[in-house]
Amino acid sequence: MAPDVIAGTGRRTCALSELMVLPSWRKTGTARRLHDALLAARTEERATLLVDQGHPKVRALYEGWGWQVLGGLRPRIEHAPLFHAMLRPLAGRLG
Ligand SMILES: CC(C)(COP(=O)(O)OP(=O)(O)OC[C@H]1O[C@@H](n2cnc3c(N)ncnc32)[C@H](O)[C@@H]1OP(=O)(O)O)[C@@H](O)C(=O)NCCC(=O)NCCS
Repeated sequence: MAPDVIAGTGRRTCALSELMVLPSWRKTGTARRLHDALLAARTEERATLLVDQGHPKVRALYEGWGWQVLGGLRPRIEHAPLFHAMLRPLAGRLG
């Protein structure tokens, strides 16, 4: 992986953790609106999140929202699953 991609400054990346909506709000566009509103308010260069590799539909959902898989990551926690680490440029920095 290119060193400039993983280089951390402590300020260039924000983490999106556990986006979730109640089942009755799924497939309504609410999750996407929450996601967009959260990220629109950020001033960092890019955002990162983790998706369980056992949930390929969630990975595909995020890919459709502009995220790319950087690589695999397993947190150093007992019984932690293997995740996809994903990255997305933030507003004003998309293509
Ligand atoms: C992720 C989430 C916010 C997306 O909401 P949405 O945009 O309305 O999209 P959907 O709920 O239709 O999810 C897209 C697909 O992923 C699947 N999916 C969602 N969460 C999943 C999970 N935790 N495990 C396995 N599959 C999941 C859905 O079943 C759906 O598949 P389908 O199209 O075959 O029905 C919502 O599904 C959710 O709250 N999920 C539970 C929490 C979660 O897994 N968050 C992700 C953390 S990285």
